[in-house]
Amino acid sequence: EKGGYDYFMLKEIAEQPKAVADTLLGRIDGSGRLTLDEVRIPDAVLREADKIVIIACGTAFHAGLIAKYAIEHWTRIPCEVELASEFRYRDPILGQRTLVIAISQSGETMDTLMALRHAREQGAKVLAVCNTNGSTIPRESDAVLYTHAGPEVAVASTKAFLTQLVACYLLALYLGQVRGTKWGDEIHAVVRELARIGDEVERVLETMEPVRALARSLAHKDTVLFLGRHVGYPVALEGALKLKELAYMHAEGFAAGELKHGPIALIEEDLPVVVVVPSPKGRSVLHDKIVSNIQEIRARGARTIVIAEEGDEAVVPYADHLVRIPATPTLLQPLVSTVPLQVFACELATARGNEVDQPRNLAKSVTVE
Ligand code: F6R
Repeated sequence: EKGGYDYFMLKEIAEQPKAVADTLLGRIDGSGRLTLDEVRIPDAVLREADKIVIIACGTAFHAGLIAKYAIEHWTRIPCEVELASEFRYRDPILGQRTLVIAISQSGETMDTLMALRHAREQGAKVLAVCNTNGSTIPRESDAVLYTHAGPEVAVASTKAFLTQLVACYLLALYLGQVRGTKWGDEIHAVVRELARIGDEVERVLETMEPVRALARSLAHKDTVLFLGRHVGYPVALEGALKLKELAYMHAEGFAAGELKHGPIALIEEDLPVVVVVPSPKGRSVLHDKIVSNIQEIRARGARTIVIAEEGDEAVVPYADHLVRIPATPTLLQPLVSTVPLQVFACELATARGNEVDQPRNLAKSVTVE
């Protein structure tokens, strides 16, 4: 059942190119237009939406944080992302023109379910992004966009996360298409890239041996920090979450721009810091900023583990360890930059003798508060 892998998590990491391709299947036509038949919310309602609120927990929440960057850039609709456990006990401002997106792999997470009920009671339309056919969250939503990751058995979410990202990108692009915002060359280039991103994920998987060796060499460490900017920031949060739940290590993700507001005080000799570097092309401002951040932490003794695009030479002098990922449009980078972090956490867990598929104290589906 594990298909020759020692753990379900390894199998599920390896299945990501297919999971991504399956989630795209039939949703982009030959001319680059999107068809999302399951989104039963009428186009008129989508055109009218004046606010999007994403609710989710854990890894799905990180997918939501990334989706915000894409949704606001491609559709110009203001988007908030909130932990379902916070949202459900607040008095949020929602209305008929609010579109709520509930992201959940299992479709059974209690906090997300309660948050979506809370939203519907106030007249908002709810669209579920879900991996489990017929589960409670899609049943109680106005519409559903299924991710086609297939069953995810390991407690730590991997392939479901990548497909949640794909679904959110599709949804953002679809909203852009329906509303006619930014529907030009940039979007066409992104759609083209998205359509073949599974191959790029495959390429990343083929180059993971040095990441595994690095993870094993860090098995005795107590702390690992993760830094990112823009969509790399939620990726840093996700890398830290994976490490906590699997390796039981102290791990934290920060927005690199926050370093000087506190976290830089944590930097000490030989502390491993993983940095997710944005593309040097296009958004070069961000890239320059993060290169300075890497210099700053390295000058204070950090052992830098740098995840950067192929061809990005500017980071080379400051990287103690360099992990290459393929070049992608900025907003799509999380689909490739998350993969080394999953492999890293899985290998560290194994090296520390932990149970990879069933981390202590955790359950796959959190149906209680
Ligand atoms: C982390 C993980 C959890 C889930 C969270 C939400 O690896 O798996 O953080 O992402 O419990 O679960 P779903 O997506 O089923 O609502």
